[in-house]
Amino acid sequence: MVKKELNILFVASEVVPFAKTGGLADVSGALPKALGAMGHNVIVVMPRYYQIDKGSLTHIEGVLGVNMGPMGELYGAVYKAKLPGSDAEVYFIDHEQFFGRKGLYHSDNEPYQDNDNRFIFLSKAALELCKMLNFVPDVIHANDWHTAALPLITQTHYQHDFGSIPTILTIHNLEHQGDFFKGAIDVMESGWEHFNPQAYESMDRLNLLKGGIAYADAVTTVSKRYAKEMQIPDFGFGLDSHIKAHSSKLFGILNGVDYDEWNPSVDKYIAKNFDVDDMKGKAVCKRALQEHFSLEIDDNKPLIGFVGRFAKQKGIELIAGVIDSLLDRNIQVVMLGTGEKWAEHYFSEVASRHFGRFGLHVGYSDELAHQIEAGCDFFLMPSLFEPCGLNQIYSLRYGTLPIVRAVGGLDDTIENYSEEHKSGNGFKFYMPTHDGLYHTVIWAAEVYWNDRDAYKKLQQNAMRMHFGWDDAASSYEDVYRYAIAKRRVSKLQ
Ligand code: ADP
Ligand code: GLC
Repeated sequence: MVKKELNILFVASEVVPFAKTGGLADVSGALPKALGAMGHNVIVVMPRYYQIDKGSLTHIEGVLGVNMGPMGELYGAVYKAKLPGSDAEVYFIDHEQFFGRKGLYHSDNEPYQDNDNRFIFLSKAALELCKMLNFVPDVIHANDWHTAALPLITQTHYQHDFGSIPTILTIHNLEHQGDFFKGAIDVMESGWEHFNPQAYESMDRLNLLKGGIAYADAVTTVSKRYAKEMQIPDFGFGLDSHIKAHSSKLFGILNGVDYDEWNPSVDKYIAKNFDVDDMKGKAVCKRALQEHFSLEIDDNKPLIGFVGRFAKQKGIELIAGVIDSLLDRNIQVVMLGTGEKWAEHYFSEVASRHFGRFGLHVGYSDELAHQIEAGCDFFLMPSLFEPCGLNQIYSLRYGTLPIVRAVGGLDDTIENYSEEHKSGNGFKFYMPTHDGLYHTVIWAAEVYWNDRDAYKKLQQNAMRMHFGWDDAASSYEDVYRYAIAKRRVSKLQ
């Protein structure tokens, strides 16, 4: 008989609202919530980083003993909290030596040297926690390289308790694969027979994501387009042929949006709420944003926003190459981000050269991210690759038309403006060149300057689109059931 509700163990390195560096956290907060709303029992497991105040969590009696091979047995304390807006519980693994640091993964752009041990510990601790809670998962959902040891350790070191439970691995970003000195295979305690080029080995080093792809019962990624792209060398980061070899268990599921968080009609951070039927508030938000960045207050100047990691992936080199020419054209730009130092310095110089036209905030601010979504006329995402991308989807709901490069989830969610049909929800360019970006931004600005009716029509198209988590969560449920059925069949054979 098919079980209606599933017990789901969801393990991730960051979860909104507790710790976030990027979209993985948004997904890890929203998907379990949506699965919970469908009636499933989900528990989420993540580290108790230093920045998460213990005082706001509930301490769980008992201690987890985690066997770490040559490092011996290490211990973890456990805390929990409710995932806001949901019945799902989030469990926090506390281990001072690994997680009592300022950064999640690095300090000053230098990855922590023991990231292999830190996240293998998290993966193992998640399984020990299930035993402690007597929680028997029907499926285990791992995310990115951090937890990509799970598909193997469940079948080896933890075979006795978890050997029959299928694992699903979601790839949010193929650029980061968890590449480590091979000795970490001993920390996994899974046996060197799994260290080979079809599994966890890549050029004599341990590649956690690669092995996870090989051993997971199903692999998902965060858009259909990226599921295809990751199988070709241009986007595969060396894993394209490996992924192609496993493509029969690969599924592309577009991320959703948590509209409790990203919705201009209820957003608590913005100057005035608005919605598609009453856009007065958006003009107030634009003005507030111009004031915030000391820009000239002028509604006829298109205001373009960028929020994101200052990383090559996000096309920051392309932006850097055209920013002066754009600002010379009566366009205003605001940027919020942090990351590569050259970019932080470069854009700071741009800010001093273009006072009144360019605003920069180097750092991380949820509040400002919402204000940029609400106050801008356009949102810029010229990514070199983009597995899904969330900001362009948030932008749609805020009537802030995305200007994007047609890759990955950007291509799946943005429909190019058609002058002839007055259709579309944004502006796309194809080649990652300065010219491509520059001319597309100018094209968008010209629609704003010269055809405000068309601009408003696009805004309406954009704001009426719906990318809720409900659809995505039921696609994940299908994948869970596929993985469970696959295990049953293999048992019969
Ligand atoms: P990625 O995960 O590759 O960074 P996404 O578009 O999927 O890209 O998600 C990025 C998320 O992180 C969005 O919610 C975005 O608003 C947020 N974000 C990125 N940089 C910042 C920042 N400097 N301040 C606030 N939020 C940020
Ligand atoms: C990654 C990707 C981004 C995606 C996010 C959440 O970090 O770069 O495109 O939206 O994960 O899945």
